Amino acid sequence: MSFDFINSQPPISLPSNAIVIVRDLVFAYPNLEPILRGISLTLYPGERVALLGATGCGKSTLLENLIGLKQPLCGEIWIQGIPLKPKTLPQVRRIVGFSFQNADEQLFMPTILEDITFGPLNYGIPAAIADAKARKLLAEFGLETYANRSAHELSGGQKRLAALAAILALEPEVLILDEPTNGLDPYWRRHIALVLSKLPIKLLLIASHDLHWIGKTTQRALVLAEGRIQIDAPTQELLQDAATLERYNLPLDY
Ligand SMILES: Nc1ncnc2c1ncn2[C@@H]1O[C@H](COP(=O)(O)OP(=O)(O)OP(=O)(O)O)[C@@H](O)[C@H]1O
Ligand SMILES: [Mg+2]
Repeated sequence: MSFDFINSQPPISLPSNAIVIVRDLVFAYPNLEPILRGISLTLYPGERVALLGATGCGKSTLLENLIGLKQPLCGEIWIQGIPLKPKTLPQVRRIVGFSFQNADEQLFMPTILEDITFGPLNYGIPAAIADAKARKLLAEFGLETYANRSAHELSGGQKRLAALAAILALEPEVLILDEPTNGLDPYWRRHIALVLSKLPIKLLLIASHDLHWIGKTTQRALVLAEGRIQIDAPTQELLQDAATLERYNLPLDY
């Protein structure tokens, strides 16, 4: 099957106001059995959604499919009505901000200030404005004195914060975060929850193992297992269902 989808518009039966539509997505790494075996989901404006699931179940793989970093064997994805295909990638990436599970994949400039101004400058924002915005974000994340350091000279948690700042600098309409609290202390986990709660975004999708934090930042939770979305429920309802969490290897106490 080809990544260049046959349909250019969502079928009539699909909800036209959805921000993300995924239909029957199948993805396999080369020479392996598919890890995603038929993912279908619809995410609506205003939603804050958690993507949960055991280590290695395919959360990062799914998120990277959603922004075209990985190409499915078959299936369809629309972002704000735009069918995801090589030709539409620049348009989709302008809408969606994505932060990698591994912050090192995102920070590649000589200094973190440049990492944060990189995207805005690329989109034609004047240098003085990009610089001012970057410095404001660095201050927001407690990194103002690190502006001229390279990411290699930061701690794991500081890199995570710098990577988040770099994404927020782009002011995306849709924000997809892969394990955003990895390596962060409770102060910064709380701070990020607060920053996210104030963001004027249309949709937030977060893959995480941080169940308590997810309970404070999302209202809807999807559980991925065996290549499919097995549970789609209000986050609070799921977090109170210890048996279901246990069934998917997501014990709340650990
Ligand atoms: N480049 C690759 N080549 C082959 N297999 C891969 C590759 N990247 C990931 N995998 C495998 O695909 C599966 C899904 O990986 P993925 O990173 O999507 O899981 P995840 O749910 O995000 O896990 P975690 O909770 O640890 O972040 C895993 O079994 C992993 O070993
Ligand atoms: Mg992952």
